[in-house]
Amino acid sequence: MGMSIESFERNATAAELIPALQRDGAVIVRERVDPARMDALVALLAPALDPLEPGGGEFFGYRKKSCGELFANGCEFSETLLLDPLVTEVSDTILGPNCHHYRVNASGSIQVWGGGQNQPLHREMDIYRPFLVHDPARPEYVLATMWAGCDFTTENGATRLAPGSHLWPDGRRATEDEVTQAVMHKGSLLFWLGKSFHGLGKNRTDEPRTGIIFTLTVDWLTQEENQFVAVPPEVARKLPERAQQLLGYRASPLLGWVGGRDSDNLLRPARGKSGPLV
Ligand SMILES: [Fe+2]
Repeated sequence: MGMSIESFERNATAAELIPALQRDGAVIVRERVDPARMDALVALLAPALDPLEPGGGEFFGYRKKSCGELFANGCEFSETLLLDPLVTEVSDTILGPNCHHYRVNASGSIQVWGGGQNQPLHREMDIYRPFLVHDPARPEYVLATMWAGCDFTTENGATRLAPGSHLWPDGRRATEDEVTQAVMHKGSLLFWLGKSFHGLGKNRTDEPRTGIIFTLTVDWLTQEENQFVAVPPEVARKLPERAQQLLGYRASPLLGWVGGRDSDNLLRPARGKSGPLV
């Protein structure tokens, strides 16, 4: 197994963990969410996950259950995860310089059941190929977070990662001895960069491995999961305003504006001029 992923205590600051994130492409924050609170969040997702049969095809290792639309499941997910001040600080540093603002890219829960295979290693940025091909010199446009909904172990399929792979040239693949796993307790938070190779691990146990995931991207790339359908205005209005903005109900000076709406929060009427054409 390759080098391990550095882990930090739950109250670590962004300044403490960002050098390791930029060096290795991933870091763990131990038990960032209280395990009992994490149990409550996972329980809220049971109605979406329980009726499903594990599947997902080769890319997902054949034994995955998943649901999206995470932030349509109630304020708890925004308040505990999306608005976590550490996530904000890390995102501000990693993505902030490369955009007007950043927003949710994709969200949901992924449960890995026994009997499948490792997910092929991939980069979150691969969704933008062939128009954006991996370039280690390019700034970061995507930041990913995985929250452990149970203990993540080597046996149950803890996320596999290739530390340092964000700096590799396009086309270089990871050998098995360059891959490690994000072993962490329930409630822990794994950050990884959009350029880092990673994938779901194979679960060799009888219990599912449950993770909650959301990724963030710059305002000028199309969101992977369409948040305006996933969390439509009538649902978004019940969330904290900062969550509304992070879901995308916010315009940049020249992108995403709507006439008659407030650019800082498109769910509100404009107080003055609201876009370059109107
Ligand atoms: Fe991924």
